[in-house]
Amino acid sequence: MELDLAGKDNEIAYKVLTALVTPRPIAWISTLNEDGSVNLAPFSFFNVFGSAPPLVIFGVGNKSPGVPKDTVRNIEREKEFVVNLVDEHVAEAMNESAAALPYGESELDRNGCTTVASLEIRTPRIAESPVSLECTLHEIQKIKGNRIILGLGGKMIVRDGILDPVTKYINPAAFPVIGRMQGPDGYVRCRDRFEMAWPRT
Ligand SMILES: Cc1cc2nc3c(=O)[nH]c(=O)nc-3n(C[C@H](O)[C@H](O)[C@H](O)COP(=O)(O)O)c2cc1C
Repeated sequence: MELDLAGKDNEIAYKVLTALVTPRPIAWISTLNEDGSVNLAPFSFFNVFGSAPPLVIFGVGNKSPGVPKDTVRNIEREKEFVVNLVDEHVAEAMNESAAALPYGESELDRNGCTTVASLEIRTPRIAESPVSLECTLHEIQKIKGNRIILGLGGKMIVRDGILDPVTKYINPAAFPVIGRMQGPDGYVRCRDRFEMAWPRT
């Protein structure tokens, strides 16, 4: 099958891309609303793209034609956000926070999550999330209907038991991360790992 995603098949591009480019990590982004309350939403067009400095990128569509989602509106103004990561324990709360609420109405009032002050930025992190990365805005690129948020990571808060205190190796059992799969309802657990030795010449 050949698809012309930028041309005649564009109307199915979202469906096909999100079905095939899987699994995707999920950034559960907390931002500050204008009144100081906290906005929370998940984004799976997300990854890290480098470590020196830590570079975080995620992509946000519009709420309605020409109207950016609340997360973008807040980041444009505050120039900062927190990437909270998602494991099986917070999966339902994360999913719940994707509801489209009127601007200023906090998802936290509905999903039972709580916030904790960040170390270096004003935007709080989500207490129930196992890992949070404080980010400052580097740039927002508008590419037609998409906005790509580029952020630089600073302080990272990792729940005790996930990383070895000395080696910083991960204990995967303590971080049952989930990923995004196809369809509006698709997720995956990541418990079936395998290893391959790095090729050495
Ligand atoms: C797991 C998951 C991943 C999502 N990923 C994205 C994404 O990458 N980009 C996007 O624009 N919306 C994504 N959404 C939808 C947003 O979370 C949703 O539109 C949310 O209401 C935006 O909230 P806001 O207006 O408070 O920013 C995703 C939803 C879920 C449940």
